[in-house]
Amino acid sequence: MKIFIDTADIDEIEEAYSWGILDGITTNPSLIKKAVEKLKNKGKKVDMEEYIKKICSIVEGPVSLEVRGIKAEEMVREGNILYEKFNDINDNIVIKIPVNTAFNENDEQFEGIKAIKELEETGIPTNATLIMAPEQALLAAKAGASYVSPFLGRVDDYIRSVKGIEYSKMDYWDFDASILMENKEREKKAENGYKVVSSVSYSDNGIYSGVHLVESIIRIFDSYSYDTEIIAASVRNARQVRLVAEMGVDIATIPFTVIKEMVSHYKTMEGMKKFTQDVVEEYSKLFE
Ligand code: G3P
Repeated sequence: MKIFIDTADIDEIEEAYSWGILDGITTNPSLIKKAVEKLKNKGKKVDMEEYIKKICSIVEGPVSLEVRGIKAEEMVREGNILYEKFNDINDNIVIKIPVNTAFNENDEQFEGIKAIKELEETGIPTNATLIMAPEQALLAAKAGASYVSPFLGRVDDYIRSVKGIEYSKMDYWDFDASILMENKEREKKAENGYKVVSSVSYSDNGIYSGVHLVESIIRIFDSYSYDTEIIAASVRNARQVRLVAEMGVDIATIPFTVIKEMVSHYKTMEGMKKFTQDVVEEYSKLFE
């Protein structure tokens, strides 16, 4: 599995890159805003063009940069600008296009899909972002997207908030337990003699969690041998990374804090203390 870092913070990118584990970078307007605010708080001025050039030069792998337009035409124009400005640096630009740019149901729903198709036809790779349903990923793949980014954490947030379940942002959403709860509700209804037409669902239209969303997309893409790579995004904890890795997802894009969480374990630290204490003088002499 390839590991991308989900950040626009150059300090984080450089640090993770120095560990030898980084295959790419994903950014979005919110991550750029966070990085810019950090620099401004330190009293630094930001030259955005130079800043992004630096990001592109650090890693050999793909760097996703997102458009800000809403209409296909705008997104294609902006995608071309980003590609022309930055692809020469390291030949690694991918244009992030929201799969659907509608703000509400009356808006145009296919602008993202159209932009993906147009950019891909001119040889500019795209990453279909804000994927919350397998069907969106299927359409993005049909349009020729090089990558799709299912948003694990936000799907978990949605299911938990609709069901009134309290959670903290980085908590793992235990969807196995949610399926159990759903089955119990079904059994209870059956016992009471109700005909079970639809269940009390701990899901979003049959998707139980962000991890389950990835599983579904993998199954669909495998069925039709799509080349589109899946980037597990909006990752909130190490356990999500483990589960999507077990499923064979192509890529996980991971915030810096979660990358650090992946390597840390209480018993590793405890073992480390003991090994350090137990070094005898005779063994130490080997290193003199
Ligand atoms: O990769 C998408 C990501 O940046 C969104 O993450 O935690 O804001 O849902 P989050």
